Amino acid sequence: MNDKPKDYVLGIVGSPRRDGNTDRLVDSVLRGAAMVGWPVEKVRLSEFDVRPCEGCLACYPGGLTRCAIHDDEMQKIVDRMERARLWILGTPVYCYGPVGQLKVFIDRWICLLPRVYSGTRAATVIPLHAAASGADPTLALLETLFRGFGLEHLGSLVCPDLLHVEDLDRHTEYVYQAVAFGRRLGERLLEYGASSDGNAATRSEDR
Ligand SMILES: Cc1cc2nc3c(=O)[nH]c(=O)nc-3n(C[C@H](O)[C@H](O)[C@H](O)COP(=O)(O)O)c2cc1C
Repeated sequence: MNDKPKDYVLGIVGSPRRDGNTDRLVDSVLRGAAMVGWPVEKVRLSEFDVRPCEGCLACYPGGLTRCAIHDDEMQKIVDRMERARLWILGTPVYCYGPVGQLKVFIDRWICLLPRVYSGTRAATVIPLHAAASGADPTLALLETLFRGFGLEHLGSLVCPDLLHVEDLDRHTEYVYQAVAFGRRLGERLLEYGASSDGNAATRSEDR
């Protein structure tokens, strides 16, 4: 089976709010990565039909082709994930955790084959209304998830005090931070080079 080249950066937006805080912040991170030469792409989970795992475990082991859910759009996202060198997961905090759309999506990771995530890295973007510590449970979940898949977590951007979309216009510093974060992520990927597979866990907080 041929591995597909991992040659771009993929933003994955969990928030259902189009052009909302997560969407815009992920855009800015992607803009930063593009500045250092990375092709970028973004998916909004709310634009795909991703159904919740039914728990039958038919896919485990074996992969998505054995999943009992044949007729949703998870495979379309997985195809994009497989070609990406870096996944930028963006989620607002909803009721102390990640938004439900993201949790439904990551529950389906149980059927990801290693070729989808090996050599891939991850970063996180989390806007929320409360103080930064309000993102801790969400970050802990995502970091544990990445560790479980052997994905190196390259860092997180947590942006507190954002409730309404207009709040991001008051906090323009977040947009600059997001672009700088994306640049740094892009530069890190360049340092790893084309054939890297080091997965040592590191964490660089932008909080
Ligand atoms: C249903 C719901 C639950 C929320 N729960 C929390 C929460 O527990 N803690 C918090 O700080 N913000 C909470 N928020 C606020 C969102 O995190 C905040 O509005 C965020 O900026 C939304 O990002 P978005 O524009 O990408 O959707 C909640 C918002 C909604 C709609």
